[in-house]
Amino acid sequence: MPLAVVILAAGQGKRMNSSLPKVLHPLGGKALLAHVIDAARALAPEQIHVVYGHGGEAVRHAFEGQSISWSLQAEQLGTAHAVQQASTAIQPGHTVLVLYGDVPLIRTSTLQALLDRLQDSAMSLLTVELEEPRGYGRIVREAGVVQRIVEEKDANDTERAIREINTGILATRAEDLNDWLQRIGNDNAQGEYYLTDCIELAVTDGGIVNTVIGTDADEVSGVNDKRQLATLERALQQRHADALFDAGVTLIDPQRIDVRGKLATGRDVSIDINTIFEGTVTLGDGVSIGANCVISNSTLAAGTRVHPNTLIDNATIGEDCTIGPFARIRPDTQLGNDVHVGNFVEIKKSVIADHSKANHLTYIGDSEIGQRVNVGAGTITCNYDGANKHKTVVGDDVFIGSDTSLVAPVTVGAGATIGAGSTITMNVPGRELTLARGRQVTIEGWERPKKRNNNQA
Ligand code: UD1
Ligand code: CA
Repeated sequence: MPLAVVILAAGQGKRMNSSLPKVLHPLGGKALLAHVIDAARALAPEQIHVVYGHGGEAVRHAFEGQSISWSLQAEQLGTAHAVQQASTAIQPGHTVLVLYGDVPLIRTSTLQALLDRLQDSAMSLLTVELEEPRGYGRIVREAGVVQRIVEEKDANDTERAIREINTGILATRAEDLNDWLQRIGNDNAQGEYYLTDCIELAVTDGGIVNTVIGTDADEVSGVNDKRQLATLERALQQRHADALFDAGVTLIDPQRIDVRGKLATGRDVSIDINTIFEGTVTLGDGVSIGANCVISNSTLAAGTRVHPNTLIDNATIGEDCTIGPFARIRPDTQLGNDVHVGNFVEIKKSVIADHSKANHLTYIGDSEIGQRVNVGAGTITCNYDGANKHKTVVGDDVFIGSDTSLVAPVTVGAGATIGAGSTITMNVPGRELTLARGRQVTIEGWERPKKRNNNQA
C-alpha cells in the first residue's frame, strides 16, 4: 500500500518565547521539522503532508523546493482537525502515518515497526511507559486490549494512574481515518477535536488497535520550551557519540562533543573536548583534534593533527598536517601534505603545497604557495587594495623572512629569499636574496635631547 505521511506542525510554540516558529528551531544544527521529514523520507513515502499554522509561512519557506504538500490549519481546533486538513487529500488505499513536527528524535526503524504492526489491525499506536505520565493521553486497556485514549484533562483518578501514554504517533488507513475524523466531536474538557478519539471509534467498529511500545523516552519526546530543546540536543549528541564509539573513535568526553551535521571518521581518530563539527566533515585515519575547535564542511586527511582552539571552515587539508593552536583556516583553502600552520595564522582562499610552513602570526589570503616554503612570523599578504582582491603567488622552496608584507598582485620566484621586514611591491626573482627595507644606519656621537628648563625660557 502506498504511504502518505502527515506531519502536524501548526502549534505556535508559545513557550519557546521566540519569533522563530517552533519547528524551525535547530537541533544538532537542523530544524526540528527537518529531523521528522528526514525520518519519514527514509520510509520512501509517496506523499508527505505538513500541516502548518497561521503565520507559518516561514516554515513553508524553509523547505522550499522539497516535495511536500502543505496544508494550512488556520485555527488550531485540535489534533483531529489538524490531521483532517491534510487527510481529505489522501486517496483511499493509502496507509497514513501521523507524526509530530516537534518530536524530532523519532527513528525510522520505530516507524517501520509501527507500519508492520498495522498489517493485522485497524490502527497501530506508538506508546511508551513513563514514570511521570502527567500531561499525556493515557492508553486505556481492558484485559490487555486497547479500548480508547483518555486525555489528562478528561481523565478520572484511576485513568490518571495509567503509566502507558500516547506518543501521538500512529498508523492507519486513509479510508478508515477519514471516516473516523468525520465522526469526531469536540465535547470534551478542552473543546478540541481529539485525534485520539479515533481509537475508540476503531474499537466500536470492531477493529483492533495494536501498539508498539517504545523503550526510549527521548525518541518520542516533544519540544515545547528551550529546556526540552536542550535536553533533546544532548540526547541527539549522545546518539552521535555512540555511533562514533562504534566506529572506534576516541572521545575524551562524550558529553562534550557537538555534531551538527555528518561526521565521517577513519580508524584511530581521537577527539578532545568541546569541539563542534558542522555540516559534512571527514576525518581520515589517525586524525587527532584538540580541545575547543570548530570544524565546518571540511576534509582532513590521514595523520593530521589539529591543536586546540582552531577554526577550520570549508577547507581541504592533506595528510600529516599540523594545525594550530589558535589557527583559523577560512573557506576555499587547500593544504597539501605535511603542511604546518601555527598559532595566530589565518589562511583564506589559498593553496599551500606539501611541506610548507607558516608557524606564527601570519595572514595568507588569495594566495598560491609552493612546496617547502617557509613563511616567516608576521608575514602578511596585502591582498586587498580597498576595492579589489589580488593574488599572491609564491614558488617552491621560497624563504620569506619575518615581518614581510607581500603587496598583491605579486609573484615570488622559486628558491627566492626575502629579507625580514621587507615590503614587497614588485615581483621577486627566483634564487636571489631580495630586500625591501630601509638600510640600518648608526649616527655616531648623537645625543638624546634633554628636558628644557622652563624658568629660563
Ligand atoms: C496530544 C495527544 C495526547 C498525547 C500527546 C503527546 C490529542 C488529543 N492528544 O496531546 O494523547 O499524549 O499529544 O504529545 O491528540 N497540533 C496542530 N494543530 C492543532 C493541535 C495540535 O498542528 O490544532 C500539533 C501540535 O503542533 C503538536 C501536535 O499536534 O505538534 C500535538 O499537539 P499538542 O497540543 O502538543 O498535544 P496535546 O493536545 O497536548
Ligand atoms: Ca492541545
